[in-house]
Amino acid sequence: MLDFEFYNPTKIVFGKDKIEKLNDLIDKDARVLILYGGGSIKKFGTLDKVKEALKGREIFEFPGIEPNPKYETLMKAVEVVKKENINFLLAVGGGSVMDGTKFVNLAANYEGEDKTDLLKYGFTPVPVSKGLPIGTVVTLPATGSEMNGGSVISYDGGKFSVRSPLSFPKFSILDPTLTYTLPKTQVANGVVDTFIHVLEQYATYPVDARFQDRTAEGILKTLIEIGRKTIDDPTDYDARANLVWCATMGLNGLIAAGVPQDWTTHKIGHELTAIYGIDHAKTLATILPALWEVRRKEKGAKLVQYAERVWDIKEGSDDEKIDLAISKTREFFEILDMPTHLSKYGLTKDDVDTVVDSLERHGMTNLSETGDLGLDISRKVIEKAL
Ligand code: NZQ
Ligand code: ZN
Repeated sequence: MLDFEFYNPTKIVFGKDKIEKLNDLIDKDARVLILYGGGSIKKFGTLDKVKEALKGREIFEFPGIEPNPKYETLMKAVEVVKKENINFLLAVGGGSVMDGTKFVNLAANYEGEDKTDLLKYGFTPVPVSKGLPIGTVVTLPATGSEMNGGSVISYDGGKFSVRSPLSFPKFSILDPTLTYTLPKTQVANGVVDTFIHVLEQYATYPVDARFQDRTAEGILKTLIEIGRKTIDDPTDYDARANLVWCATMGLNGLIAAGVPQDWTTHKIGHELTAIYGIDHAKTLATILPALWEVRRKEKGAKLVQYAERVWDIKEGSDDEKIDLAISKTREFFEILDMPTHLSKYGLTKDDVDTVVDSLERHGMTNLSETGDLGLDISRKVIEKAL
């Protein structure tokens, strides 16, 4: 096992009707800014419940955080934070709203003049030393943003990771019933995004991290069991509750501790979202199988383990096991109505240069668990994903 530090201060409040707990979780004299997206929380009554729970406090609203939240939108929220002397940020929504709220907090407290500086640090924590407390009410299980210190912000044709220990929410309310109103395609996004978060922390090379591996395999197997079921039957509480908890545990640092990680699928996926507007999870479903085909040698031992333990493939040579595991993975995504080829989104070989150029422009030239994946290999992966 590799050395690691593990830090996670987020309190989770899980279950039906837990929005009521906001009254205990946020100080009575707080000036709260509620940040949200394009209106789903208004339409489905979540905003009213939040306001009811916060009665007696000074409440302000910032609507309109779009999917793949934009820097320019978030900077408008920074103005509200300053003007209204806000001292608590409450994100109510999916990954975009939670990420956006984290960025608003950092930008409001960053001392430098140009806040786009914050987009340049990648996985290194940004130089911000104080921030407001953040809480979240999660309406879309997918990103794990509710229990991690990361965020992804869109700016000038790119998507940028912004990390800080200050971005961990103080608490997150996970009420699976708040997610019942999601369109089927967003539920599928949640299943696939979670599945691939786990795999980016798992399908690398073995370091004898048994707890992390078996926890990762447990999440993967759970998603295979409940994935289609929770799309078809959105109000099956237990199926949805399992998805919600898997999404949170899939990217809160637990299974990342002490293991190599390979975020190549996400990095290429972010370029595809930035250029073509394809949903985050949908980009991943096309890239991951292609990456494995290209990198089957480097990832061989873990892919065999994945085949045996997640898909119960016990027969055949290692190569045959890997082949079958890749095709079962594709099949799983396709069963969720998630295409595994970029051609389904209209991309052709003429698009490959555009994506590779964009990776280069954003410095994504040393990807993979060992940093050996240059643009030539990314090109092969994108070609395979077509
Ligand atoms: O904006 P509204 O009207 O609320 O509608 C949203 C949005 O259109 C809708 N929605 C959310 N909850 C709903 C609902 N509709 C009906 N009922 C509900 N209960 O869903 C749409 C998509 O929402 P969004 O927040 O964009 O989706 P998701 O949670 O998948 O977040 C994607 C973003 O997270 C980033 C992605 O890059 C992307 O920008 N990621 C963040 C990560 C992190 N912080 O650790 C890691 C991830 O890998 C990912 O990169
Ligand atoms: Zn993701």
